[in-house]
Amino acid sequence: MGFFLGYILGFAVAFGLIVGFAKYQNIRSKKRIDLAAAIAALARITVQDSRKLLPDKFYPSWILNWLNQHLDKIWPYVDQAASQVIRDSVEPILEQYRPAILASLKFSTLTLGTVAPQFTGVAILESEPNEIVMEMDMQWDGNPDIVLEIKTRVGVALPIQVKNIGFTGVFRLIFKPLADEFPCFGAVCFSLREKRNLDFTLKVIGGDLSSIPGISDAIEGTIRDAIEDSITWPVRKIIPILPGDYSYLEVKSVGMLEVKLIEAKELTNKDLIGKSDPFAKLCIRPLPDRTKHSKTIDNQTSPIWNEHFEFEVEDTSTQHLTIKIFDDEGVQAAELIGCALIPLRNLEAGKVKDVWLKLVKDLDIQRDNKNRGQVHLELLYCPFSTENVWNPFDPDFRLTSLEKALKHLTEDGADSSGKEAAAAKKKDIIVRGVLSVTVVSAEGLPATDLMGKSDPFVVLTMKKTEHKNKTRVLNDTLNPVWNQTFDFVVEDGLHELLMVDVYDHDTFGKDKMGRCILTLTRAILDGELTDDFHLDGTESGKVKLHIKWTSRSIIKE
Ligand SMILES: *[C@@H]1O[C@H](CO)[C@@H](O)[C@H](O)[C@H]1NC(C)=O
Ligand SMILES: *[C@@H]1O[C@H](CO)[C@@H](O)[C@H](O)[C@H]1NC(C)=O
Ligand SMILES: *[C@@H]1O[C@H](CO)[C@@H](O)[C@H](O)[C@H]1NC(C)=O
Ligand SMILES: *[C@@H]1O[C@H](CO)[C@@H](O)[C@H](O)[C@H]1NC(C)=O
Repeated sequence: MGFFLGYILGFAVAFGLIVGFAKYQNIRSKKRIDLAAAIAALARITVQDSRKLLPDKFYPSWILNWLNQHLDKIWPYVDQAASQVIRDSVEPILEQYRPAILASLKFSTLTLGTVAPQFTGVAILESEPNEIVMEMDMQWDGNPDIVLEIKTRVGVALPIQVKNIGFTGVFRLIFKPLADEFPCFGAVCFSLREKRNLDFTLKVIGGDLSSIPGISDAIEGTIRDAIEDSITWPVRKIIPILPGDYSYLEVKSVGMLEVKLIEAKELTNKDLIGKSDPFAKLCIRPLPDRTKHSKTIDNQTSPIWNEHFEFEVEDTSTQHLTIKIFDDEGVQAAELIGCALIPLRNLEAGKVKDVWLKLVKDLDIQRDNKNRGQVHLELLYCPFSTENVWNPFDPDFRLTSLEKALKHLTEDGADSSGKEAAAAKKKDIIVRGVLSVTVVSAEGLPATDLMGKSDPFVVLTMKKTEHKNKTRVLNDTLNPVWNQTFDFVVEDGLHELLMVDVYDHDTFGKDKMGRCILTLTRAILDGELTDDFHLDGTESGKVKLHIKWTSRSIIKE
């Protein structure tokens, strides 16, 4: 039940250590002084490089023992002081993540029980001079009494007890800014750095949860989403200790992630009649207003979406993009086909990354022997801070950057009202131009005839305009060289796809050998590129293309 745990433990530590001791009047002043001295010592030790003062092995265990002892002692006070705070801060968050089938979700009982969490490890991390960053491994097999009062849409009210909580994870605490005044820092931020294990059971008091299908999953999903999002690093909770404005400690966006949901293949068929009707949900943070939904593509296990989404990024080193693909069941709840994630640290700023992700059933387990299909995405991360990385999807940025690129176009070209437009509110931008595609060659094509050869040719199709061109047929080869160039006038380069299909010519028609689908983003960013593209549907077939983009104009819509 890490959602509460986040709060409970976060408050336990931050609230307990600091507020509990420093501000709780019932505690004898001797103890407060002890704590103040210890915290002050801690602050000084860290700032002055503790390693010089204490051997590496020694100081964490010293801190650990100290913390565990003190947390045990102050736990009853924490419980008393924190329960109301937890309730007040958690209920609005629950509301944010509440699934549609529930009309309300509130606490009716919340006490933390008698068992304090235990710290099993502490590390003080390298950080800026004005702060102390600590990571604490924690374990809690608590006996809290937590009862949720839920109301379903159909008006049924149920008291649901959260039982058998077992949690292990790592909390990060940031004490910042350091101050001379007691207790030596202005505020504490806490965040769940890593969730290792989280078990809990839900039980209806005086009833059976399975009697209302979907409720248990919905509540569990809400809880897990809320943990994932509301206190998992980089999101943090800030507890001000000394008066002051600590808004600068809040998590901030550092850039935008541009995502193209291109296509999927080999999706598990969930339907008895016809095929699945897949749609995707994508998010970095699972907040309802930050989760993007694609269109549903009916009756297709290899859908092509060609949709573009944009996400705010707070921390590339720890965040990831999650994608879940569902089968749209109309009035019934959508059924999960599979999910995948990609850590943002795998992305290089300003560089387009093209990925195929394998779908699994459960992201926490990852290993999945069943083939649920794969999803094809194009990702582009553009940090706000870097001047020379420009985001073609950002109208403000592009107008200036692209204008430079368009300087050499004399007539009919660049829209010169860039400055005003940049000042205007954010709008969609259309980049027009000409795409020149040279189909250079292919390699490793599968043999289709008895002689171990094929007669390959390539068909190029623009997805939106459906303009097509094809190369000539080359006889009896698996490594053809065409070296033919085709020009396409493109009306909306940022939202167009180039589909490259390789066929085998046959007296009786044609057989598809492989396909690849490309966005134009790389060409628009780089102007020109030559690359080998893997052909889907073949073992190791690839096609070499030379692609050149010439911008004609930019239109703001
Ligand atoms: C689904 O598509 C297949 C062709 O791929 C078609 O034969 C079938 O009739 C379609 N079914 C429905 C329910 O649209
Ligand atoms: C490509 O297709 C268009 C229209 O079908 C045609 O007019 C043009 O000549 C083709 N280009 C080449 C190089 O074959
Ligand atoms: C390829 O083979 C077909 C018959 O299979 C023939 O008509 C055609 O002329 C050949 N093309 C070339 C370029 O050799
Ligand atoms: C492709 O054609 C160009 C000229 O159109 C030529 O310079 C180049 O060498 C050719 N490449 C191959 C691999 O045949």
